[in-house]
Amino acid sequence: MKVGIIGAGRIGEALISGLIKGGFAKPEEIYASDINHQRLKHLSSTYGINCHRSNVEVVEKSEVVILSVKPKDIKKVLEEINNHLTPSHLLISVAAGVATSYIARHLTKPVPIVRAMPNVAVLAREGMTVVTAGPNANEKHLEVAEKLFQAVGKTLRLNEEYFDAVTALSGSGPAYVFLIIEAMTDAGVKVGLPRDVASYLSSQTTLGAAKMLLETGEHPARLREMVTTPAGVTIEGIIELEEGKIRTTIINAVMKATSRSKELLAS
Ligand SMILES: NC(=O)c1ccc[n+]([C@@H]2O[C@H](COP(=O)([O-])OP(=O)(O)OC[C@H]3O[C@@H](n4cnc5c(N)ncnc54)[C@H](OP(=O)(O)O)[C@@H]3O)[C@@H](O)[C@H]2O)c1
Repeated sequence: MKVGIIGAGRIGEALISGLIKGGFAKPEEIYASDINHQRLKHLSSTYGINCHRSNVEVVEKSEVVILSVKPKDIKKVLEEINNHLTPSHLLISVAAGVATSYIARHLTKPVPIVRAMPNVAVLAREGMTVVTAGPNANEKHLEVAEKLFQAVGKTLRLNEEYFDAVTALSGSGPAYVFLIIEAMTDAGVKVGLPRDVASYLSSQTTLGAAKMLLETGEHPARLREMVTTPAGVTIEGIIELEEGKIRTTIINAVMKATSRSKELLAS
């Protein structure tokens, strides 16, 4: 399948890398465009994909077109590619805060539109991508989008009404987890561990805990109880976390991020 990526920045590159490693597309089946010439040079030499200065050229060569520019640039790109998109394309937008109805309003033909919210972990092929069918997209289009993002991690279908929440939770989520791991690493250093050791222990512990939750399907509180022995070590740490209002802080962070996602296009 010929895949075009318009806006080959952080997420665009993560997808290019993941799609090749995951076997969804060969380098010669991937077409990318970006206004930044240096980026195109880097992508061409790193991945051996086809790079173009023109977004239109990418649309004309691709079957699936992934829109991966910033939300503020979406309108301009849609106006540019509108005359070249056809109903046999599949247009996938990963732009935060941009509704599929907004995209459809800027197109004159009934182009199938799928909205996807991946996260940066697609780079490690452990991404979490939520997909939804927009105007003119049917089951087949959703399946193509799912297959594409499954090459770089897990997917879930949800109604579009959830997308601001999804953007704030799993879209931005890796940043929250990086911050927590960074704090755990500093904590390890504070209690005497070398930084590289503390970082490795914190990262693998986070991965292991997440894997246990996914594999057992248990409630996190039950798993937490398993490691919290009476009058033991863990309960001392948990009391401090609760006193620091970690739970409320995380809920507030996701609420704020959700509000920001809602106002993104307007700003
Ligand atoms: N980063 C994340 O974790 C994440 C997660 C989920 C979804 N997203 C969404 O993914 C999209 C891309 O995010 P990103 O973080 O990858 O942004 P990014 O690194 O800024 O990538 C966007 C790229 O598009 C280029 N560009 C700008 N205008 C263009 C145009 N008219 N035609 C072609 N290319 C153009 C930019 O060039 P310049 O830099 O020169 O402007 C940049 O290289 C956004 O809509 C974002 O909401 C991001």
